[in-house]
Amino acid sequence: MNNAHMPVTGEMPAPRASFDIHDATGAWLPNRELAERVGVQFGTPAFIYNADYIRANFAELRRRLSPTIDILYSLKANPNAAVVDCLKSCGAGAEVSSRAELHTAIRVGVPASNIIFVGPAKTRDEIGDCLRFGIFAIVAESARELEIIDELAREQGLQRPVDVMLRINPDFTTSGSGLTMSGKPRQFGIDIEQVPDLRDVMAGLPRVRVMGFHVYMGTRFLEAGPIIENTVNILDMARRLGALLDIPVEAVDVGGGFGIPYFDNESALDLETLALGINETVSRFRETCPNTRVIIELGRYLTAGSGAMLTRVHYTKESRGEVFAIADGGTNLHMAAVGVGGFAKRSFPILNLSRDRGEGATRTTLTGPLCTPSDTLARKADLGDVAEGDVLAVLCSGAYGPSASPTGFLSHGYPNEVLVDGDELHLVRAGDDTNDIVGRYRLPDDLPLPPVDKSFSISVRLSASDAHYGGALVDGAHIMKLFGDAVTGLAAIHDGDESLLQRWEGVEFLKPARPGDFITVRARINRQSRLRRFVEVEALRTVRACDPGSSAVEKVDPPEKIASAQGLFVVPMPNRSSARKESMT
Ligand SMILES: Cc1ncc(COP(=O)(O)O)c(C=O)c1O
Repeated sequence: MNNAHMPVTGEMPAPRASFDIHDATGAWLPNRELAERVGVQFGTPAFIYNADYIRANFAELRRRLSPTIDILYSLKANPNAAVVDCLKSCGAGAEVSSRAELHTAIRVGVPASNIIFVGPAKTRDEIGDCLRFGIFAIVAESARELEIIDELAREQGLQRPVDVMLRINPDFTTSGSGLTMSGKPRQFGIDIEQVPDLRDVMAGLPRVRVMGFHVYMGTRFLEAGPIIENTVNILDMARRLGALLDIPVEAVDVGGGFGIPYFDNESALDLETLALGINETVSRFRETCPNTRVIIELGRYLTAGSGAMLTRVHYTKESRGEVFAIADGGTNLHMAAVGVGGFAKRSFPILNLSRDRGEGATRTTLTGPLCTPSDTLARKADLGDVAEGDVLAVLCSGAYGPSASPTGFLSHGYPNEVLVDGDELHLVRAGDDTNDIVGRYRLPDDLPLPPVDKSFSISVRLSASDAHYGGALVDGAHIMKLFGDAVTGLAAIHDGDESLLQRWEGVEFLKPARPGDFITVRARINRQSRLRRFVEVEALRTVRACDPGSSAVEKVDPPEKIASAQGLFVVPMPNRSSARKESMT
């Protein structure tokens, strides 16, 4: 580990960057104190992102790349608005691929002129929003998409044609990427062989102005050479296609795919060599195309190193000689940690933040909460000693974390996301609680499921005047009133209405209360059917005064149950015909 003050120069404001760095990967390394603060304030599992790291990392890239190259942030890597906001403040634009990503970019204030929309399955709503916001360009992936853009531009009555870049699937490929996206049969983009056919299509679409090209070759490149080679090829191709289609090439997006090292045998991109190669390539291109906007779009490189997943060990066990630590966050929140690693044959760097590394040679298999053996973050890894309650940090987790994971599996839901900015912690996305998940279901008759086991309690101290309910010994009517109050409170936090309470059942008065007694009445919904909800109510006398007039009290321990009852709610069926009428008006 190494306490890094990342070098920051150039035009960026110098960030207050001071954080620990993991030697092997250069990723941010959170410390024990932070893990404890996050655990106490927000619980685990949680994803934490370091704003200083994001800023310093971006500034370093910006400093090395020619200022004539624009950097767009690919929100797919981490769509959290706080992360997007942080990168926007550094000067990044946005590459978006869904309506929510587009709205996130717009709402955090990325200028529309710095946004492009890429994706092979754009809906009419998405394209419509691109037109309304007036983004820099829609990156069209098929001839049919061009027709739809033209149609929607006509429907919106746009005065000027829509700027469109064509995503090209070129006829070259390169080695060195973790996942090849182009140069093969792919659903992405327009095969270069089909480009000549577009001339006729474009001629019939007056509201579409093709003004550039886009290529995305692949992700997780760790060598500068293939990226530079791609850039050379793409810029060259763009020039040729511009001439072929007889259009001015106003913008070329050369993709990116810059990787970060995750595993032992990987090393970081040589940024200096990479930037030099790209800068030279772009400056050669500018000799013939001086005004073309050159764009690089990056996701992983901008955020992966800034984040960690904190996961807490709930159980340790041994099975047939293998030691397991079973934690609350696994591949349900962090599929990339396994997907990239080939089912945990190699694991992301993982550290136990709860204890110093001992000498122990135990190897531990770290798993999550799912019902599949593939929910394994690390297999027989050297994690030092691991015990119940320990918080482990999976480093390099700022990209393709929960948003790229099966967070719905076993209904554990999305985790909390926390931005660490200097000394401050900000909850930048609240995770799902049980009701966020269960409360979204609807039964076929459109009724929500009633909350389970909702409870409500009220406590009162019976004064002497309360005695009018039953003289010196209070029971019956007074207790029934307290039951009613508790149920009203429950109804207020429930989907019901206390007027739906149809009857009390099984009312029992076991003991009377006296003025001066503390009475707690608890109401709890504890059984349910589709339309019938039962409440259980009980009154407990917890404290009894020695003398009703004095404040001296004598504890009654344990509290005594003095009355109980059950109530029945019947929820009316929704009135289907009136609901239909409403939707028609
Ligand atoms: C079109 C496109 N752009 C950008 C990215 C982001 O890639 P990375 O995170 O490797 O920078 C992807 C990733 O799949 C992509 O498909």
